Amino acid sequence: MKKLIAGNWKMNGTLREALGLAEALSAQIGADLAAQVDFCVCPPFIHIGAVGVSLSPLIALGGQDCSETGNGAYTGDVSAAMLKDIGCRYVILGHSERRQYHGEIDALISKKAEKAHESGLISIICVGETEAQRESGKAEAVVIEQLKGSIPPSGNSSNMVIAYEPVWAIGTGKTPTAEDVAAIHAVIRKTLQEKLDNSGAIRILYGGSVKPENAATLLCLPNVDGALVGGASLKADQFLAIAKNTL
Ligand code: PGA
Repeated sequence: MKKLIAGNWKMNGTLREALGLAEALSAQIGADLAAQVDFCVCPPFIHIGAVGVSLSPLIALGGQDCSETGNGAYTGDVSAAMLKDIGCRYVILGHSERRQYHGEIDALISKKAEKAHESGLISIICVGETEAQRESGKAEAVVIEQLKGSIPPSGNSSNMVIAYEPVWAIGTGKTPTAEDVAAIHAVIRKTLQEKLDNSGAIRILYGGSVKPENAATLLCLPNVDGALVGGASLKADQFLAIAKNTL
């Protein structure tokens, strides 16, 4: 399967920095590379419109979240329809930072994904265990439960991507072993197979301290179809090197 390398810029950067990053990526991602790897960047909401103007059409745009409702009186929210309208193809949902700092639970994430799909966006639904859950041997059970609760009835192989992001690996420089990543991705694939038709075509990304140095080891495993990259997506050369190291 063609890999997807998605950059989650999180809440970082001035407009000038965001445009600089978009321009650097656009200059370096040519048709040859884009034929081998799919790229997506997810800037903060406020920069999406401007980034979209200067971003190469070979790089897709994404949001980092969306509302669970349609347009209306919801102060501070951004709808899936708005993301689609401004040129987004993807939206990250249920990131562990949303789960942790905004109390997002599986049922809410499922509603958000439903709205994303209705609006023609591809959801990137994030799951992953905490350190305590891994240490107590519950990683697989937690991931299965999150998947079952977060995937809406509308999810299918053309509108949904899953990202496995162990919470303890995000922004910490720590990563699971290749064996652990392969094991969880196999469990995710099996869970998708039980729930959906044509589930073999659903991409399963790994995320959590992905760097150029570990990309070949972590991203070329069975059932690993790309990466969701945080910190290293803020540097064009690192983001590019991650993609190239998967080839
Ligand atoms: P990180 O973040 O690459 O900085 O660990 C990954 C993510 O949160 O998506």
